[in-house]
Amino acid sequence: MLDRIEKIESEATAAIEVAGGTAELEELRVRYLGRKAELTTILRGIAELPAEQRGEVGGSANRTRTALEALLERRAGELDATELEAQLAEDQIDVTLPGAPAHPAGHLHLITRTTRQIEDVMAGLGYQVVEGPEIEHDYYNFTALNHPPGHPARMLQDTFYVQSHPDVLLRTHTSPVQIRAMEAQPPPIFVIMPGKVYRRDSDATHTPMFHQVEGLAIGEGITLADLQGTLEEMLKAIFGSEREARMRPHFFPFTEPSVEFDVSCFQCEGSGHLVGGERCNLCKGQGWIEVGGAGMVDPSVLGFVAESGYDPELVQGFAFGMGVERIAMLRHGVPDLRRFFDNDVRMLEQFS
Ligand code: PHE
Repeated sequence: MLDRIEKIESEATAAIEVAGGTAELEELRVRYLGRKAELTTILRGIAELPAEQRGEVGGSANRTRTALEALLERRAGELDATELEAQLAEDQIDVTLPGAPAHPAGHLHLITRTTRQIEDVMAGLGYQVVEGPEIEHDYYNFTALNHPPGHPARMLQDTFYVQSHPDVLLRTHTSPVQIRAMEAQPPPIFVIMPGKVYRRDSDATHTPMFHQVEGLAIGEGITLADLQGTLEEMLKAIFGSEREARMRPHFFPFTEPSVEFDVSCFQCEGSGHLVGGERCNLCKGQGWIEVGGAGMVDPSVLGFVAESGYDPELVQGFAFGMGVERIAMLRHGVPDLRRFFDNDVRMLEQFS
């Protein structure tokens, strides 16, 4: 009997040690400690044994049961832990992974990118980026920029006014930010002013809303030659290092002298004709492409911001302004300006 108990213990111990899962372990418990198990039968039959055997057999069987119970418990703990680990590894969800299919990352609109590129170039020349309101007072949009009362740009045909406030309008250019920037800081001032502007215009090269970038440099001894050099730096950075800048006489109420400025054509290298000899379609054979307006800030404009320290006897400088869409169209060969605002992704994603 004692041999038998020892045999049961060693057999059960070996089986429990190698049990591969909690289900298998439960089977072993039933087999070795269950109601019909041999050890249970032995324990149940102790009372019927001869008196001299009871103590020894009973003690041995009970020790074995206790030992097997402890072993089962320890093994169950081990198996629970490994099974939990395995399940965790298998069920793992990384919530930081992108959804399926992964969403394609978007990108900035070509107009935003072009604006930022110009800002970057000018920031490199020491200019500060400032912004002004799109709903503007007649004073900043026209009066302080030297537009006389009857100036055609002030007409209803050209400008969107706020109906209930006859002197409030959607700014027609970024030039009013010149005045606001000068009001806000004394000279010297070097600022670049991007933003949306509005005009009553609509065709393939005009939309009622478009974007401009304005530049202003005021200090002591700033000349038209500085304007020429600044424009050339900017145009080279935008259109390529081989480009040249040209100024042509023009008129703006708030600059004197006023110019329009051109960049040498980057398609025909300024020659006006293509390799085959035909006329360059981009510059229409001119060799130059118009980019924007500029000039030396009119002393009478500085008179409007005299209180902020702009004395036309002491400081002077230049301003320039240009259309962002036009630059983007030229650089990327976009034939119709309206396509920028249709928001058709097939068009927009070509410029990522
Ligand atoms: N504001 C002018 C326009 O929109 C451009 C310009 C800016 C001209 C600054 C001169 C100086 O046409």
